[in-house]
Amino acid sequence: MVRYTPPLGWNSWNTFGWDINEELIMSTADKMVEEGLLDAGYEYLVIDDCWAEDERDENGRLVPDRNKFPHGMKYIADYVHSKGLKFGMYSCDGYLTCAGFPASYQYEFIDAETFASWGVDFLKYDNCNRPATVPAKLLYHRMALALRNTGRDIMFSACNWGVEDVKEWIKETGSNMWRSTGDIVDSWESIKDIHYLQLDYQPYNGLGCFNDMDMLVVGMNGKGNVSMGGCTYSEYKTHFSLWCMLNSPLMLGCDIRNMSDETKKIVLNKDLIKINQDPAGCQPMLLQGFKNGNHDQVFIWAKQLENGDIAIGIFNLQDEQRLSYIGFDVLGLNRSCGVKLKFTDLWSHEEAVYKDGFKVLVPAHDCFVWRCKLLPMDV
Ligand code: GLA
Repeated sequence: MVRYTPPLGWNSWNTFGWDINEELIMSTADKMVEEGLLDAGYEYLVIDDCWAEDERDENGRLVPDRNKFPHGMKYIADYVHSKGLKFGMYSCDGYLTCAGFPASYQYEFIDAETFASWGVDFLKYDNCNRPATVPAKLLYHRMALALRNTGRDIMFSACNWGVEDVKEWIKETGSNMWRSTGDIVDSWESIKDIHYLQLDYQPYNGLGCFNDMDMLVVGMNGKGNVSMGGCTYSEYKTHFSLWCMLNSPLMLGCDIRNMSDETKKIVLNKDLIKINQDPAGCQPMLLQGFKNGNHDQVFIWAKQLENGDIAIGIFNLQDEQRLSYIGFDVLGLNRSCGVKLKFTDLWSHEEAVYKDGFKVLVPAHDCFVWRCKLLPMDV
């Protein structure tokens, strides 16, 4: 089954890395429901790397780590499903995963069948430790085919970090998402770097196959596997808003068992999630920012929405505040169109109506995202 909007969920890697186990996964499943994350759309619970024993069994099958997952993976999958969530796992197209556990090269069909028999609904497929002579394209094609032949509906999440021209061929595999960047870390610099990379990728992002900007670091606050000092509230808010505007999958990476009120305010912003999940899946349009040699660090993105509204976001990635003018002519609108725009701020919920444009003061590292409704000029 193709999923037309970007997948939402949680992944173990950013916070927990190697330190995963049955109790963590089951209590995370509980919290996804209790905290309202599932209701907000976060439905996939994904175990990343470091879940397997070092050796396959006598039939060549992957074996879950007996200490971390003493009841095996079907047990976990059943529990996750009993909560109304979907269950995701991780493998890699090489001999070993990135963290050095057995991976699926030359075992693709056996592993796909194993995952299906456990009740897996989502597979993140990494790109480490593979033979240099075999192109990634063939290996992603091969695993996609293996998954499809299990007869189970398993979402394929390709993770080859944007290399080997993945954007050109990934849709051939039917993959639902493709990682366009190296690994995120919990720092403002990392968020900015990943955003810059996306400017040339937008034309390749679309319905059913989304450009994955990597798991979210919102709420990590400097703690966990990929922590690098953490970010401020405004920086996490800007990070989340960018990932929503640019149609990235939204995979939480913090410890959701201990979310602060600020973290919940960000990741449970249903108006922002609606922008990310808009059924039209239009790629956003860059109205201002760093492109073709223009080094402006204040970006304005706009995205047409299915009901005729427009989402507009302004993102100040520089270190000083900026007074910016947002003129509607760059959206293709002018007085001859006979419309004005009603702006609803998706963070403060304030509303305002403008005719041709308006000025806004954006604090450093902060953003505004509005949902804009077209109204007849004379109303
Ligand atoms: C790679 C991926 C990460 C994570 C680790 C696990 O670095 O890009 O997202 O899955 O491997 O080892």
